[in-house]
Amino acid sequence: MNEPADRTPATDTEDGPRIKELRELAIHIATGAAEMAARMRHEGVAVAATKSSSTDVVTEADRATEQHIRELISRARPDDAILGEEGDSVSGTTGLTWVVDPIDGTVNYLYGIGSWAVSVAVVEGEPEPTSWRTLAGSVVAPRLSEVYSAGAGEGATLNGRPLRLEPHSGLSDSLVATGFGYESARRTAQGRVVAQLLGSVRDIRRMGSAALDLCAVAAGRVDAYYELGTKPWDHAAGALVAREAGAWVGGLKDDERESERMLVAANPGISKQLRAALRDAGA
Ligand code: IPD
Repeated sequence: MNEPADRTPATDTEDGPRIKELRELAIHIATGAAEMAARMRHEGVAVAATKSSSTDVVTEADRATEQHIRELISRARPDDAILGEEGDSVSGTTGLTWVVDPIDGTVNYLYGIGSWAVSVAVVEGEPEPTSWRTLAGSVVAPRLSEVYSAGAGEGATLNGRPLRLEPHSGLSDSLVATGFGYESARRTAQGRVVAQLLGSVRDIRRMGSAALDLCAVAAGRVDAYYELGTKPWDHAAGALVAREAGAWVGGLKDDERESERMLVAANPGISKQLRAALRDAGA
C-alpha cells in the first residue's frame, strides 16, 4: 500500500482505457447504490443484526444495498470476483476483485447523520490490501452530494473537480481524523493513543466513516487520518482517492505489511512526523 501515486496518466498507457472504464463503472455502481440506501433511510431504518459487538450493527439497508451492488457488478462484469462487507466472497476468473462497502458509516446512517457513503473499488491481484493494486474506486455520499473517484495514475476527483493536495508541514497545526473499532478492548487502547496524540496536533476529528475520512485527506479537509484495524472494504476506494490526490498512504512502519494493522493517510509533509508521534503514543 505504500507505493506512491504514479503520476503518469494511465490514459497515456495501455492500461488507461481499462482503468477509465472501470472507474466509470465504479462511479455508476456506487451512485446507484447510494441513491437506493438514501431512499431506504428516508423510509426508516431497521437493524437486521449485530456483528463483532452489540454496537456493530448491520441494517436491512446494508444488506439490500450490497445485494444491489453485487447484481450490478455481476451484470456488467460476470467474471470478476467480489469481496463485500455483508456477504460471502464470490470468486472470479479475471484477476480483478470488486471490494465493496454498501454503507460505510453505518452508525451515522442509523442515527440520521449524513456522513456515510457507499464505497466501491476494483483491485487487481490477490484480494489482500497489502498486495493488491487498486485500479479504480468511487466513494459516494448522497446526503453530502459528494461523488469521489480515482483511477490508478489518473488522479482523483470530487464531483468531477480534480483533487491535488497542497504541501503542508508541521504536525502541531495539523487536523487529524481517526476512527475506532467496535470492540471494547480495542477502543480503550485506541483512546489511550489518541489522548496522547491530542497534545501534538491542532485537533482530532472522529467523523464515523473511514472511506470519507480518506477522501477528506484527499480534499485537504483534514491533514491526515489514521486508524487501527480497518477492513479492506472500509479503505479500498478511499485509499486510492487519497493517494491519487497526492497523499502518502501506508502503515505505521516502513514495512508494507504493517498497513494491514494501522492505516495512515497523510499530507506528505507530515506523514513521517505523524507516524513517529503515533509510535511514541504506543500505537
Ligand atoms: C466503520 C467506519 C468507522 C470506522 C470503523 C469502521 P462501518 O465502518 O468506517 O468510521 O472507525 O472502523 O468499521 O461499520 O460503518 O461499515
